[in-house]
Amino acid sequence: MLKVRNLSLAFGDLVLADQLSFTLEAGKTHVIIGPNGTGKSSLLKVLFGDIKPQSGEVLFDSEHLDYRNLNPWRQRFGYMPQDIRLDIGLTVLEVVLLGQLNALSLKLADSLIEKALKALDQIGLLHLAQRDVRTLSGGQCQMILFAQALMRNPKILMLDEPVSALDLHFQQVMLDHLDQQTHQQHWVSVMILHDLNLAAQYADNLLVLKGGKLLAEGAPAEVLSADLVEEVYGVKAELAYDQQGIPFVRTPRRRLMQQSVSLAS
Ligand SMILES: Nc1ncnc2c1ncn2[C@@H]1O[C@H](COP(=O)(O)OP(=O)(O)OP(=O)(O)O)[C@@H](O)[C@H]1O
Ligand SMILES: [Mg+2]
Repeated sequence: MLKVRNLSLAFGDLVLADQLSFTLEAGKTHVIIGPNGTGKSSLLKVLFGDIKPQSGEVLFDSEHLDYRNLNPWRQRFGYMPQDIRLDIGLTVLEVVLLGQLNALSLKLADSLIEKALKALDQIGLLHLAQRDVRTLSGGQCQMILFAQALMRNPKILMLDEPVSALDLHFQQVMLDHLDQQTHQQHWVSVMILHDLNLAAQYADNLLVLKGGKLLAEGAPAEVLSADLVEEVYGVKAELAYDQQGIPFVRTPRRRLMQQSVSLAS
């Protein structure tokens, strides 16, 4: 499990984490939601050792994050940061193989190439293997970076807005794959999402971050409410529930609402 204890992080006056504590259990998908600019991406960077907080502890099982020796800490991560652009002259297959950089030598083992091809095949993108990554669409890039993160055999998988450019089909491919593998491989999986409906559907544990505090945490059906959505986003939303009791959230279109109010009066 990945544990954060009493974490405080600020850039000048901007407080992103204020004595934050939480535990991310293995075998579960944890989803972080919260407003733009509240510090979600910065929090993942802290977990990866990219940003050093003012205070607090990060532990994986019983091992502490040690800033003087980051390589062994990072080896267990598959990390897909927000909005990466693939602006290098490599093929898709080569980019996926970079996920295994530590194991690469001058001569690539056939087994590694097979593994990379399998990772591409599992997410339906084998046909892109020999394409120059600079020629890919935004959604295709996101899927390739996901395959690269999978190639690392992660113990901890961190995805920062991984579906922001994906169509409905690839959202399902990615999130179902993540869901299945997290449970089968016992990964600690954590992703940031803005789509509350996807968050409600795929989170085993939902963490709501705002103003440096964890406002709520738990099963989406218990955490999400119209009041919480208003508190976090300042938006009046309607919630409904599907047959499994999973909430879905909708915001009404304001102009149509105003029209129906004026028709009624
Ligand atoms: N290195 C830095 N120095 C100063 N300010 C920073 C730094 N990194 C991030 N910030 C600021 O911290 C705030 C939080 O940024 P962060 O990227 O973590 O937000 P976020 O919750 O991921 O937002 P979004 O939903 O828009 O991706 C922003 O106001 C950002 O400008
Ligand atoms: Mg972000």
